[in-house]
Amino acid sequence: MASWLTNFYQPTAPISEERIAVTGGASQNLACLLQVFTDPVHTRNVWIVAPAYMLAFRIFDDSALKLRAVPEDEEGIDIEYLRTEIRESEAKARAQPNGEQPIKPQRPWSKFYRHIIYAVPTFSNPSFKTMTLKRREQLVRLAREYDALIITDDVYDFLQWPASLTAKHLSLDKAVLPRIVDIDRYLDGGAEREGADGFGNSVSNGSFSKIAGPGLRTGWCEGTSKLAFGVSQTGSSRSGGAPSQLAATFLGEIIESGDLQRHVYEVLQPSYGRRYQKFVRAIETELIPLGARLPQTDRDVVGGYFIWLTLPDGIKSITVVQRAKEEENVVVAQGEIFQVPGDTDHAGTHFEQDIRMCFAWEDEDVLAEGIERLARVIRGLQNEQQDGEAQSSMQHATKASAEEFW
Ligand SMILES: Cc1ncc(COP(=O)(O)O)c(C=O)c1O
Repeated sequence: MASWLTNFYQPTAPISEERIAVTGGASQNLACLLQVFTDPVHTRNVWIVAPAYMLAFRIFDDSALKLRAVPEDEEGIDIEYLRTEIRESEAKARAQPNGEQPIKPQRPWSKFYRHIIYAVPTFSNPSFKTMTLKRREQLVRLAREYDALIITDDVYDFLQWPASLTAKHLSLDKAVLPRIVDIDRYLDGGAEREGADGFGNSVSNGSFSKIAGPGLRTGWCEGTSKLAFGVSQTGSSRSGGAPSQLAATFLGEIIESGDLQRHVYEVLQPSYGRRYQKFVRAIETELIPLGARLPQTDRDVVGGYFIWLTLPDGIKSITVVQRAKEEENVVVAQGEIFQVPGDTDHAGTHFEQDIRMCFAWEDEDVLAEGIERLARVIRGLQNEQQDGEAQSSMQHATKASAEEFW
């Protein structure tokens, strides 16, 4: 793992084995990280980049943590919003008389962070965006300032290809940007700089789910050696041993032989890349002319499973999702399911005009038809809207002339 990750991410120094812990997948390890590194009283909030991977919400909830949404713009997380809100959260804490002492016992292999920040910085599920290098660096600095642990699900990083719809060579064996955990390692003296506690402020959650098979229930996480050791000491892992011995053994063999890497670069990237090209070409001919919008259209490299689409103005995702299913047998996900529960008041944290679409599942030759069917639904709604507007302006005109008459 260490040498494959080093080859792929090209960090400033090679990745050592001590920085890696084998996990039971990104979901299971998110729970482990929260068990070891948070406390329900001392940890003030989980700051979640919205729209967010919705199945993470319950994992945070299980650890009794308070969720807050942070909007994204075209560069990724809105740093200034996050800074203001964390500052306010800390001011509120200072106003409380009893302090916020942890209720969990302190252990030598762990620490309780004051804040958690959760993001999917590369080819995000669901927003499809990639956070820029500048934002990644700003986020690391902010996390250091406020004792936050940034947990990133880096689960789509290997599924990447050139964004150009005419690209022929769809395989890329080097990461597009350093992960946040790589940046934490080198920025301003790095995570293990003098005077720091050595745990660092970021951890990368990786997974074999998307590159070898979800049922394997195996992943890895990377952080400082101190943090990786802390994860390995989670109670359930210590009792059972590693979370995923058998599957991890098989995976170890296919990484050592290079078969997994070949599968990723020679099978997955070209197949998903071709699906992406067909999907986006259809979106450009069918949906963009209707007023729909795609995020970050100027990237050189894209990837992942999903595309986030902002619907034309006046069209609600709830209606599109229902009609697409009922009338066209097309399944897309409604934007609202990716809203952070309990924190949807601020602009950019609610998504009733957006949908998430998956291009990775269906065969290459049916994807364009799926988009054509979706376009039919949207066009139908726009026609109804125009009829409605025509009717209401006629009513308005009648009313106005009636008022004039009286
Ligand atoms: C952002 C994100 N995190 C985590 C997961 C789940 O990963 P795993 O199967 O490794 O638990 C997914 C899969 O859908 C995902 O999209």
